[in-house]
Amino acid sequence: MTDVNILAISGSLRAGSMNTALLRAAQKHAPNDVSISLYGNLGAIPLYNGDLDTDSPPSAVQELRAAIARADGLLIATPEYNYSIPGVLKNALDWASRPAQSSALLHKHVAILGAAPGNFGTVRAQLALRQVFLWTQSKVVVRPEILVFNCAQRFDEAGNLTDETTIELIREQLAVLRDQIRGLLPPLHSS
Ligand SMILES: Cc1cc2nc3c(=O)[nH]c(=O)nc-3n(C[C@H](O)[C@H](O)[C@H](O)COP(=O)(O)O)c2cc1C
Repeated sequence: MTDVNILAISGSLRAGSMNTALLRAAQKHAPNDVSISLYGNLGAIPLYNGDLDTDSPPSAVQELRAAIARADGLLIATPEYNYSIPGVLKNALDWASRPAQSSALLHKHVAILGAAPGNFGTVRAQLALRQVFLWTQSKVVVRPEILVFNCAQRFDEAGNLTDETTIELIREQLAVLRDQIRGLLPPLHSS
């Protein structure tokens, strides 16, 4: 059986992002039959403008849509900004969600995680992100949830995730995402 191919998107543009570091940890600790590539062009996506959303949208948008379409599933690490998801991530998802009836997000399997330095581990941002994926009819993994609170203490100075509990949760979540993609778990949505 071929590997399940996951596109990982971080909602942070910072070089030292804890959320991007989580995705690097996911690459490192993924099950053997799950391969993860990191999307690295979020900062190049222009602000959504319906006038540019034509048959020939901006090249960064075309590349994003194609990368999502090629992937079997998405792994999204979101920071929490003011109780919600960062604008750069929402903007990219808005582009990816069009055209609504045939978008790259339609029926796409998605797993969500997030890291924050405070005590709430992006819980409010993750709820907001789940809400976005309702309208796109994406199939979001429900459990395990991965809320990395007090995140600074879970990485070493080089940005490697060292917290065994979080590493194990990431492995479990990727296994659920893989099994959901392979149809081994019952679909959470029907169309
Ligand atoms: C504009 C802005 C708003 C923020 N709002 C929240 C918030 O609502 N809740 C929270 O836990 N942290 C908040 N933070 C702190 C972020 O969780 C923190 O900067 C985190 O490290 C960002 O993720 P990153 O390391 O992946 O860039 C906010 C940070 C910024 C820049």
